[in-house]
Parts: sequence; C-alpha cells; structure tokens
Amino acid sequence: MSTAKISKNDFALFGAPPAFAEPLPIGQLYFPSWERYEQAFKGIFERQYYTEYGPLNQQLENNLQQFLGVRHAICVTNATVALMMLANALELKGKVILPSFTFIASAQSLSWAGLEPVFCDVDPDTHQLDLKQVAALIDKDVSAIMGVHLWGGACQPRALEELAKAHGVQLYFDAAHAFGCAVDGVRIGNFGRAEVFSFHQDNILNATEGGCICTNDDELAAKLRVMRSSAGAGSKPAEVTKTVNGRMSEAQCAIALMSLEDFPANRQNNERLHRLYAERLAAIPGLHPVEPSGVSFSNYQYLVCRVDERAFGLSRDMLLELLKAENVNARRYFYPGVHRSIPYVQQLPQYQGRLPNTDALSASCIQLPIGALVSAQSVEVVCNILRRAHRSALEIRARFVK
Ligand SMILES: Cc1ncc(COP(=O)(O)O)c(C=O)c1O
Repeated sequence: MSTAKISKNDFALFGAPPAFAEPLPIGQLYFPSWERYEQAFKGIFERQYYTEYGPLNQQLENNLQQFLGVRHAICVTNATVALMMLANALELKGKVILPSFTFIASAQSLSWAGLEPVFCDVDPDTHQLDLKQVAALIDKDVSAIMGVHLWGGACQPRALEELAKAHGVQLYFDAAHAFGCAVDGVRIGNFGRAEVFSFHQDNILNATEGGCICTNDDELAAKLRVMRSSAGAGSKPAEVTKTVNGRMSEAQCAIALMSLEDFPANRQNNERLHRLYAERLAAIPGLHPVEPSGVSFSNYQYLVCRVDERAFGLSRDMLLELLKAENVNARRYFYPGVHRSIPYVQQLPQYQGRLPNTDALSASCIQLPIGALVSAQSVEVVCNILRRAHRSALEIRARFVK
C-alpha cells in the first residue's frame, strides 16, 4: 500500500472543491428528448385517455412481447406488486426459497402473500444464487423457488428449471435487473413459470415507475390480467381470489415505449462504460468489478465492485464517504443482506450467521455510476479519484480514525 502524502487540495473530504459540481447520478435515468415527450403526451391529451388498458398500454405489451419473444407481457404498477400478484396467481403455499443478497422487495412480496422466505446464500464471485444450496434447502414445506437475476447477469435459469422440476416445486424469477439480457440467445422473460421486470427509473427500461410480468402460460396470463385491474380491463374471464390496482398509466407507458425504442443505444453506452471501468479498475489493487455472469447478452446496467479493504487500503464505507464528498452518488448495494433487515432479523433469526457470502458481499460491495446520464469522461474522473484514494490510503485512513 502506498503512502502518498495528501494535501487539502487532493480530496473534497479534506477541503478541495468536489470533482463534480453537480451530483453524478446513479441508476439508468433515461430521459427522452423534450420534443418526443411532448409529442407522446399530446396524443394522450387528444385521446383524453389516462389509464385502464389504453392504446399505449396495449402497444407497449405488443412491443415487449415481440422484443422478448414471449407470449405474454403484462404491464403493472411496479415489480413489487407484480411479484405479489404472481405469488397469489401461482397459488404458492408455505415457504419460498430466494437469495438474501437481493433488494428487500423480493422477500416482501412473499410476506405480503403470507408466505415464508427461505434465505439462500450466493456464489461469492458471480453473486448469483448458489444452486447446490438451493437444492439442500428444498423440503416438504417449500412450494417454489424465486430466482433473482443480478447485475445484468442471470442465475442459471435452465439449471434451476431442472432442479425445480426434479423436486416438484414451482419456479419464477425476479428479473428486475435483467431487461433485454439473454441466456444462450433466449431473452430473460421466457424462463420458469414467469419472470418479473422492473421499469423503475434505475433500470434500463424506464417507465418512471412500472413493471411487467412475462409468461408463456396462457392460463396464468389470463389470471394475472384479471388480477391487475379490479375492473378487469384488457382481460378474458378467469377465476381469481384476489384483485388489485396494478395498472400502469398511459403516461408511464408512453415513456416506456420511448425507452424500449432507445434500448439498443442505452445498452451500448452502458457496455462502453462498463468496459472502461473494467479496464481502469483492473489497475487498482483491491477493486474487483463484477462481470455480468451466465448470459450471452447483457444490458450492463449495473457497475458493482467488491472492495477488498486489505488490498485497497480503505474500507468500502470509507470509500463511500470519500466519493460522496466528490459528488459521486455511489451506494452500498445490496445492504444489508435481506436476512439482516429489520423485519427478518426479528421474524427469522435462524439465518443470522448462516449466510457468509451474503454477509461478506453486503459489507464490501459498492455500486458506481453508470447509465444514460454518465459519460466516459465522468468514468475517467471517478476512476482517477479511486486510483488516488488507493495511493494515499494510509494517510486517508489515519484521518478517518482521528
Ligand atoms: C432485485 C429487485 N427486485 C425488485 C425490485 C423492486 O422493483 P420496483 O421498484 O419496480 O417495485 C428491485 C428494485 O430495486 C430490485 O432491485
């Protein structure tokens, strides 16, 4: 570890002006041009139709079905509601296995459906579900596995399909991060009984808020369409026990349609930035960016990096403070592991200390800015801060300890 001296001009945390005058955003944050936005919204005003399976909603579902090569894409309010609806539509009972290294919404959808999450550990390199451990957790009370595809990669959906079939349990996916990704040329959206995307602004397909459930099962799709809207718009009759307001408005669908059109360009920008980060970070000891794993095509929508404190010289949390002062919106992601979040620490204490890879990753991973509003030049500036932070790690550390 180098001991380069630092002066007050070196880091914003110690008095220098921040590297960025405005916060460098994290997340995909796609904005169409104002002219396109205006044109799309003019149409909504002319038709005087805001919501309830309108023409833009129908067009979006058709375009998504074509793009993903899936029979049904059912647009909904957000991925959390989509997962809640699915748990009910799949008639799940008892327990569902899922990773703890995910966003809390994956597990909360189960809690809302009266199901018990069974937390599984992940692979320390890919961060995806550890399939050996999934197999070991299946027992008579488990009715399903919820795979979660992370970081523009995939959690071995084909192997999970075989595992689920062999054990007679259902399989579905939280694919919030995986829009546009493919496994051996097959787009995510086609695996298991169903897959759920999020169209939250952080994701590459953006509706401001929104999501969609994809399935090749006609019966399941009919149920989900009835559940989505208590008034049943856009649906054939199907028997369901619960309905919800899970609709996406025309305004959200308008943005999503533009975002889908611009997917190739936004994805290409992500890939370019991802490669630049990978190249620059390879030269900094202790920083290990995660490559999307298990996919033949990635959306590269996340840049997640593991900080090895010993080799880098600073902890992940020290680095976060340093970056925050420079106006770089990095964040701990995911943190904490869901099994350590407030509801589950109390309800399911048996998982504490049992998921070592999840604990290690949630203590060491940092998400760095990538997406439509981030330029290659900004990535160079961020990597330069990281390089200098490593070089001066001993002195920076000493100031943190004071
Ligand atoms: C893995 C995962 N699942 C589900 C969600 C929830 O998505 P939404 O905000 O659309 O409900 C998120 C949001 O960040 C997520 O990261």
